[in-house]
Amino acid sequence: MKHKDALDEFRLGVCYYPEHWPEELWDDDFRRMKELGFSVVRVAEFAWSIFEPVEGEFQFGLFDRALALADKHGLKVIIGTPTATPPAWLTHKYPEVLNVTQEGVMLRHGLRRHYNYNSKKYHELSAIITRKLAEHFKDHPAVIGWQIDNEFNCEIGEFYSQADHDAFREWCRNKYGTLDKLNEAWGTVFWSQTYSDWEQVFLPRPTPAHKQFNPHLVLDEKRFISDSTIAYAKIQADILREVVPHHWLTTNGLFGHLDSHRLTDDLLDFFSYDSYPQFSTIHYDPNEENRLADRGSSQTLSAIRSISPSFCIMEQQSGPGGWVNRMDMPSPKPGQMRLWTYQSIAHGANMVLYFRWRTATVGTEIYWHGINDYHNRPNRRVREAGQIGAELAQAGGWITSTRYAADIALLRDYDNEWDGEYDVWHGPFSWQSGKAWFKALTRRHIPSDTLFMRPETTLSDLERYKVLVYPHPAIMRDETASLLEQYVRGGGIVIFGCRTGYKDERGHCYMRPFPGAAAELTGISVEEFTMVKGSRPATSMKWEGEEDAVTRADSFNDVLLPERDTVEVVARYASDYYAGKPAVTRNKVGSGEAWYFGAVFNEASAGQIIKRLGLESPAAGLLELPEQVELAVRRDDEGSLYFLLNFSEEPVVITVEGEKSDLLTGAKLSGAISLEGFGVLVLS
Ligand code: GLA
Repeated sequence: MKHKDALDEFRLGVCYYPEHWPEELWDDDFRRMKELGFSVVRVAEFAWSIFEPVEGEFQFGLFDRALALADKHGLKVIIGTPTATPPAWLTHKYPEVLNVTQEGVMLRHGLRRHYNYNSKKYHELSAIITRKLAEHFKDHPAVIGWQIDNEFNCEIGEFYSQADHDAFREWCRNKYGTLDKLNEAWGTVFWSQTYSDWEQVFLPRPTPAHKQFNPHLVLDEKRFISDSTIAYAKIQADILREVVPHHWLTTNGLFGHLDSHRLTDDLLDFFSYDSYPQFSTIHYDPNEENRLADRGSSQTLSAIRSISPSFCIMEQQSGPGGWVNRMDMPSPKPGQMRLWTYQSIAHGANMVLYFRWRTATVGTEIYWHGINDYHNRPNRRVREAGQIGAELAQAGGWITSTRYAADIALLRDYDNEWDGEYDVWHGPFSWQSGKAWFKALTRRHIPSDTLFMRPETTLSDLERYKVLVYPHPAIMRDETASLLEQYVRGGGIVIFGCRTGYKDERGHCYMRPFPGAAAELTGISVEEFTMVKGSRPATSMKWEGEEDAVTRADSFNDVLLPERDTVEVVARYASDYYAGKPAVTRNKVGSGEAWYFGAVFNEASAGQIIKRLGLESPAAGLLELPEQVELAVRRDDEGSLYFLLNFSEEPVVITVEGEKSDLLTGAKLSGAISLEGFGVLVLS
């Protein structure tokens, strides 16, 4: 039974590791947490060797004492099952539980996440530790929920142990039934790859050309990893549902090769995300136009929201981050941690825990800073956490009753992401275009959702939006195309980019004119196409009806041929031998429209489409906002909360038409007001 009310009450908290600290510190630590306005701590997710120092011998004393103190201070507790860190005795005695690289190198004890999902031995040992913990803590008054494992597929998302190869063979047998079907699905007729016995089937192994494999096998591999992860998580979820049905379940992500939607639907009450906004600043591409810096992680938060409309941030960055020899992030500036906290909340978080209470003095993460420094004296970050705690003690109640509101969704799906990881003829485009759209929208203060197209997706899921942007769904099932067509007939607007619709779900190319499955809906065909790179100079397109409206036609060009008289040409190529040919079209279908954009999107071209569709900010007429400020709207039946997040370091001016009040301070605001650098307002 799912706990629908798990996130009804707002909670702020912190990740705490009592096993890292002298016991004399615990009481004071919990006392100060409470003082900061925290109400929840997460513990134990790496503590297997504390609970089971020797195989079969369990001890709970350390956590019993710590949890008793947490309870004394009125803090609630989330327990993490410790399976991300199997102890040394375990991997030494049962090396078959370890993960192995594709080249066959066994990944040994010494970091974390060194196990594989398919070892029967690991299933057995994980089940034992999970059951022991659940039985021990099931009646503890402080415990409210469980985190399964920690960050599935972080560190590594590929598995090649013997157990994985064996399980993959079984998975293929279940999926295909016969070798003939498997051979057909993987197109093994090509290069004489035909399998004549199941024993010949393996996960991809090294081949004569570096990292080159059968593309259909590689796509199935990703599906297999996701299924293996979920099957492994289910072992723990089933035990927890049986022993602690009164507690909620979650896990923290978000990592690759995992259908986190299915994981959540099948096993969890809600999904949790670990938010380190500085990853989007240290990993930025210096050539990227108009970067959004730490605001870029708003787009990731929208993907989390598509998994769980309300979610938990299990780890919110609260200091400079880094491992000893990798990831060396700057310290958040004054106000930035608060900004990031409200960024998470604006996007749907109803529970936020900082990572971590105090920076570790030993181990890989001695530079992954917590709120408190090693010296444990008051510091700026502790004060900032206290300010947030006080604000949310007032504002949290209203916030949790609301949901993020958007009229436009950017579509993604697992098939294309997993296929696109390997297929450079479409994969990189989706990321490029998704970002361009997100930037174009957020700079115009138009909130957007991410929506994952899944076999379960229904028409009413789509009908919540006026506009759907599905940038480059190379793989498109005919069922997906017909669902989108129903949406459009009913008045929806769908926008595709180049490389749409030409592959089936096995990754075979359809023997149909492009855009394959989407040809009917878009009313066009693709006359010819080309990559635009290397010796091919950049191309551009000119938009109809507007003097000088020329935008780049990035990365790939589909030259379009209207096939129906319902098709209007919106832009034409302005360069190369196909100058003058259609580049962007819109097709009227029923009361809606299907657009086809022949290239990879950039901000300027997304801007053209936004303008032509007349899309506006929900704050239009209410608030005047500069581009540095992100707008998020959370709504309930009572009204709307406007989250204004200033991602720049400088103060900006916003204008409030009429009067609004700031939920965080109670201040009444109207007219032109200055919002401080990294400042936040929540207006109602
Ligand atoms: C992840 C993990 C944490 C910690 C932080 C910082 O999010 O879940 O245990 O390692 O990263 O590296």
